[in-house]
Amino acid sequence: MPTTIRTVRQIIEPQFVIEGAGVLLRRSFGPNRANLFDPFLLFDHFAFNDPLEGPIKGFPTHPHRGIETVTYMLEGNVRHRDSLGNAGVIGPGDVQWMTSGRGILHEEMPRRGPSGLITGFQLWVNLPAAQKMGLPRYQEVSAASIPAIEQDGLRVRIVAGEFGGAAGPVTQIAARPVYMDVTVSPGALLSLPVEEGHTAIAYVFEGAGCFGAEEERVEAVRMVVFGEGGQVRARAAADTPVRFMLMSGAPFKEPIYPYGPFVMNTLEEIQQALSDLRNGTFVQN
Ligand code: FE2
Repeated sequence: MPTTIRTVRQIIEPQFVIEGAGVLLRRSFGPNRANLFDPFLLFDHFAFNDPLEGPIKGFPTHPHRGIETVTYMLEGNVRHRDSLGNAGVIGPGDVQWMTSGRGILHEEMPRRGPSGLITGFQLWVNLPAAQKMGLPRYQEVSAASIPAIEQDGLRVRIVAGEFGGAAGPVTQIAARPVYMDVTVSPGALLSLPVEEGHTAIAYVFEGAGCFGAEEERVEAVRMVVFGEGGQVRARAAADTPVRFMLMSGAPFKEPIYPYGPFVMNTLEEIQQALSDLRNGTFVQN
């Protein structure tokens, strides 16, 4: 049977939200019991890009349980520090794939790059019930270790998944994710096999593209949600390149119960997380 090209099922206009100590973000979607983008829970775009906006407040110490947070920076950086003794800087082109498991406490402080800008994304990926109380784990990947494949008018930086004979450095993730930073030049075509049944979405952040079987025009900044099928397609819609973060993953099809920085399966597990925080038993090194 020939592979079907996925259509565009939905186009989401990100909404401005304030998080942390007052950080302005563009949020395409956040954790919700409807779990419409299973296994993905949240996609935020650091939108703090006007140097006149004043000092950047960041995300002071906060907990996570039951999820993975993925930070991908384009400009500026994020300094982080956590309850396990990890600390570092996520700079332009770097990725931090943090698996919270049963619990971490960390702070994340964005800082401007030389251009005065901060551009980056944070994706939350769910963990299956059996791994929500597992050990925390980090995969820190420097820009230089992320393969960037340039061929046929395409440039693809691979964080996770495979393209053009190369594989991304982030592996052993329960959702079996694909996560790529894709630039498609005018006249070129991205045609990427995506597993049937996996959720596939693209966050368009530069230019305009034609997406899906129907070549629907989508301009930055928008989130494209693909329908069913075995292949994702995209072209540039104008005489400038289109750039987007492309992600896909296997849905867990489990009920979720989100509460702030926790995403568990039941209310009782959320209550447990809160009582662990109160009792000082949240983090176990
Ligand atoms: Fe966080």
